Amino acid sequence: MNYIKVDLDRQLGSIHPHIFGGFAEHLGRCFYGGIYEPGSALADEHGFRKDVLEALSRLQMPIVRYPGGNFVSGYRWMDGIGPVEARPARPELAWETIETNHFGTNEFIQFCRKIKTEPYFVVNCGDGDMREARDWVEYCNSSQETALVKLRRQHGFDAPHNVKYWGIGNEVDGEWQIGYKTPEEYARAYKEFAKVMRWVDPSIKLLASAVSNWSAEFVERTQLLLDQASDFIDYLAIHWYVGNPENDFANYMTVSEFFDERIGVAEGMLKAMKVQRNIQRPISIAVDEWNVWYRARGETLAERNNLEEIYNLEDALVVAMHFKAFIRHCQTVKMANIAQIVNVIAPIFTSPDGLFLQTIFYPFELYSRTCGNIALDPFWKGDTFSAGKHTALRTLDVSASLDEAKKSVVIFVVNRSQTDALETTISLDSGFFAGKVQAHVINGSDIKATNSFNQPNQVGVKTAVLTAERSRLNYTFEPHSVTALECQID
Ligand code: AHR
Repeated sequence: MNYIKVDLDRQLGSIHPHIFGGFAEHLGRCFYGGIYEPGSALADEHGFRKDVLEALSRLQMPIVRYPGGNFVSGYRWMDGIGPVEARPARPELAWETIETNHFGTNEFIQFCRKIKTEPYFVVNCGDGDMREARDWVEYCNSSQETALVKLRRQHGFDAPHNVKYWGIGNEVDGEWQIGYKTPEEYARAYKEFAKVMRWVDPSIKLLASAVSNWSAEFVERTQLLLDQASDFIDYLAIHWYVGNPENDFANYMTVSEFFDERIGVAEGMLKAMKVQRNIQRPISIAVDEWNVWYRARGETLAERNNLEEIYNLEDALVVAMHFKAFIRHCQTVKMANIAQIVNVIAPIFTSPDGLFLQTIFYPFELYSRTCGNIALDPFWKGDTFSAGKHTALRTLDVSASLDEAKKSVVIFVVNRSQTDALETTISLDSGFFAGKVQAHVINGSDIKATNSFNQPNQVGVKTAVLTAERSRLNYTFEPHSVTALECQID
């Protein structure tokens, strides 16, 4: 028997909606042949695939990072503005292809408006310089009578785009990056880029590329960055990708501990430096690239250009567990961006004729649609499992949120057992269940179930309506499932 206790008074803090962010890179078929396909019968008058926009809108992403990723470290944003026929094609070194620049800044802004999301731009801190970075801020955000503002107006955008979030560099700590930077080089470049970008627009929020290479000396790197540039940092950005290369389901399910460890490490570094350097300003954590990615790792040239990972049910469980980590660390994690959003390691997969929703689409949609604005601190006990280096982990992975205005509590549960349905008693303290509970369950026939064009519904979500007693609800969580119990409360 399992037992979950949710106390409405045990609150962890506010959940920032940006934890449901996305990331779209000029890579493979993310834009070209995915989001953007002028001439397609499925495209709107601006060339955007209507079916893709509709699917993306279901995910309710409040923010999307652009244009890379590794791509940005060789990107000249000015190549991607103005009349499309005049834009230069360039060799693209990060993913070994040719970038036509048919999609660029203004197309991305249009895209954001269409799916009601906010843009988050990353500037080139690889082979780009601070002049290009500050010019981009000016082109996007200024309304002064300058040449770049006139140019934006000529391009059809009278009002500023008001891009608030700007990252400086991508994965600068990796040798794979164009313009890899040593800790000293990045700390210095970051500060100088940030300074002039802020001089152009003092209202922007800046993200520093802190850790993606977890096997390098990231502690010293982060320390140096905070030591030299803390006045210019609003977020420390960290990245990770996970997978199940050993095909060991139980071990894969322990990845929740990895998320806690990585976020905890970033929190610890931040806390220590705040004390040591008496840093008063708030600095948050952005996990601005995260996902499952281990199959399409780029062993062939076609893969290197595409990264078209096909997800299964166990990956969907892992995506759900990410949200548990972000919800529990809500005081520090104020942004997270699934990498990526269409075709390239993504929840949406297209062909010229249509699309299907990958398994990982469903947990993203469920959490972003139902999650309240306050994180609760539920207590739970019951069945356990051991795998890899972990012993006695609770089989249920639980998080909960409250929305006081809507009078709703959502209890999110991942049942990490491959075989067992887990009977559970859920009790509510400091409030009462008020009648109906909607139980949304994501599941499929087995942990390796995948969706495809031929079989698009092998994994999906089903909703049932239940009735709770005043303070108690009995529920049995299906094996290998993700459940959100959306409960009205008094
Ligand atoms: O998302 C794919 C790639 O993963 C990104 O370009 C890079 O930042 C990371 O290594």
